[in-house]
Amino acid sequence: MNTKYKAVDLFCGAGGFSAGLTSAGIEVVRAFDNWPVAVDVYCRNIGNHAVCLDLLDIENAADKVGSHKPDFIVGGPPCQDFSTAGKRIEGDQANLTIAFANIIARCKPPFLLMENVPQARLSASYNKMRSILDENYEFYEVVLDASQCGVPQLRKRFFSFGWLDSAVDKNKFADWIGFSITGQRLTVKEYLAEEIDIEYYYRHARNYSRRAIFSVHEPSPTIRGINRPVPPNYKRNHLDSANPDSVRPLTSWERSRIQTFPTKWDWGAKKSDRNVDIEQLIGNAVPVKLAEFVGRGILNAVAA
Ligand SMILES: C[S@@+](CC[C@H](N)C(=O)[O-])C[C@H]1O[C@@H](n2cnc3c(N)ncnc32)[C@H](O)[C@@H]1O
Repeated sequence: MNTKYKAVDLFCGAGGFSAGLTSAGIEVVRAFDNWPVAVDVYCRNIGNHAVCLDLLDIENAADKVGSHKPDFIVGGPPCQDFSTAGKRIEGDQANLTIAFANIIARCKPPFLLMENVPQARLSASYNKMRSILDENYEFYEVVLDASQCGVPQLRKRFFSFGWLDSAVDKNKFADWIGFSITGQRLTVKEYLAEEIDIEYYYRHARNYSRRAIFSVHEPSPTIRGINRPVPPNYKRNHLDSANPDSVRPLTSWERSRIQTFPTKWDWGAKKSDRNVDIEQLIGNAVPVKLAEFVGRGILNAVAA
């Protein structure tokens, strides 16, 4: 496998995307985010190559990114505007997808890779991104369910892989994915084994029509950026797997592990701490094993 490909990670957060691509064999040489807490966690775990930068300042960002002459520009621009249940309004956050495209258009790396929620694929901002880049790039788009890619979590994510010339065999990438995804969805217990000592847990639902109590013998629902205790007045949903009196929410550490961060990952807090920033960073991340999965597939397709 070619380990010489260099990547720059935009909107790097705590580093889920970078960590997975690194495991796949891609060298991440620079990473940018404008949130100091995210950059701190990134640097603690991956390396001091993450720095704070506002990526809406496109000229400045393109200069900084371009100076590394990366083979890949990768990134997960913030997606709240299209992922909030019931709302499909594309506000300021969507501009960041366009900023991502404009930075790529200026730097023209051989490859690009974007991760986002599945709804992003149909958004005006992604459309705009494609219109900025279509002249020079070809694309392969895919929605993957993380639970079929080595992550014990039902988390569907959209990946858009682009390349400048015809060196990529997109059928090879598609075939690799088809061959590598598992028919069986990975459960929390299968992945965490002795690391988790509960049978059921509470995960705050977006609304009362959804269940909130899950078994560890199924994939976890999507790990989001908030983690709340069981409300005292919680009314049991008929689909809940257990009685609310007997369950607790997952700890930050368990959530981090379900996002497939390594056991030794340093969030800058004690294992028992509850910290809203950390919960947000965990929920924001590309699961490490999902990023690794996609990275492996891409390397397979770009290898001569
Ligand atoms: C979805 S998260 C990325 C998660 C990351 N890919 C991972 O795997 O951990 C989006 C990130 O964009 C950052 N962000 C938002 N606005 C930004 C801006 N103007 N410039 C740089 N980063 C920004 C946020 O701080 C957040 O960490």
